[in-house]
Amino acid sequence: MKIAGGGERGRALPVVVDLCGPTGDVTIFAFMRTTCSVFCGLSIDGYIARPDGALDFLEGDGTAELGDHGYEAFVAGVDAIVMGRRSFEKVMSFDAWPYTRKVVVLSGGAPDLAAARARGADVELLNATPNDVVGRLAANGYHRLYIDGGLTVQRFLRAGLIDRLIVTRVPVLIGQGIPLFGALEGDIPLKLVASRSFPGGLVQCEYVRR
Ligand SMILES: NC(=O)c1ccc[n+]([C@@H]2O[C@H](COP(=O)([O-])OP(=O)(O)OC[C@H]3O[C@@H](n4cnc5c(N)ncnc54)[C@H](OP(=O)(O)O)[C@@H]3O)[C@@H](O)[C@H]2O)c1
Repeated sequence: MKIAGGGERGRALPVVVDLCGPTGDVTIFAFMRTTCSVFCGLSIDGYIARPDGALDFLEGDGTAELGDHGYEAFVAGVDAIVMGRRSFEKVMSFDAWPYTRKVVVLSGGAPDLAAARARGADVELLNATPNDVVGRLAANGYHRLYIDGGLTVQRFLRAGLIDRLIVTRVPVLIGQGIPLFGALEGDIPLKLVASRSFPGGLVQCEYVRR
C-alpha cells in the first residue's frame, strides 16, 4: 500500500491511497486539510512582548495563580510548531527546551539549531513563503500547525493561512512592544467560537475564520 500526500501550495491536500490487490489497483482519494492555529498571550493594547522581547507583563498583576490557560491541551492537538527566528531565540533563552513537538524555525539567516538539538529539540530550518512552508510540512504528514511569533503570524495572516486564533488578553496596557497584528490587504472576518475568563482578569477568545 502506497500513501502519497500532495498539494504544493493549497491547504486542502489530496491524499492518494493506492491499494494494490490481486484484482488490480484501487485508488481512494481523501482530503486531509491542513490547519494553522495561533495561541498567544497579549496585552490589551495588542503586544505579545515588550520592545526588548520581555514577557514579564503576561504574568499579570501577581494576584492570581498562574495556569496554563489551555496551552498544554492546545499543543497536544498540533503536529508541528512553526516559529519565527526571533521567537526561537527567545525560547533558547529559557532554561530548558519546552517543546515535545517538531519545531520549524523560519529564517533567512542561520540560527544555531545545534544548540537546540543538544537540548533534545526536534528542530529544522526553513526559508520559504508561508504557502510553501505549509505545503512542505503537509507533504511530510504535518497537518495541524501552530504558528508563533508576531511577524510570522502577520505573514501567515496576509497569506490567508490562519484558520484559528486563540488569544488571551492580560489586563495591562504596555504602550509599546512587539505587536501580534499588523497591516492587511483586506479584512479577515472571524467568528468567535469560545470565550473563557481566568483569575487575574485574563480573557481568552477563540476565533475561527468565517
Ligand atoms: N506572548 C506570546 O504568546 C508570544 C508568542 C510568541 C512569541 N512571543 C514573543 O514575540 C517576540 C518575537 O516576535 P517577532 O514578531 O519579533 O518575530 P518572529 O515572528 O518570532 O520572528 C521574525 C523572524 O522570523 C523569520 N521569518 C518569519 N517568516 C519567515 C518566512 N516566511 N521565511 C523566512 N523567514 C521568516 C525572519 O527571520 P530572519 O530575520 O532571520 O530572516 C523574521 O525576522 C519574542 O519576544 C517572543 O518571545 C510572544
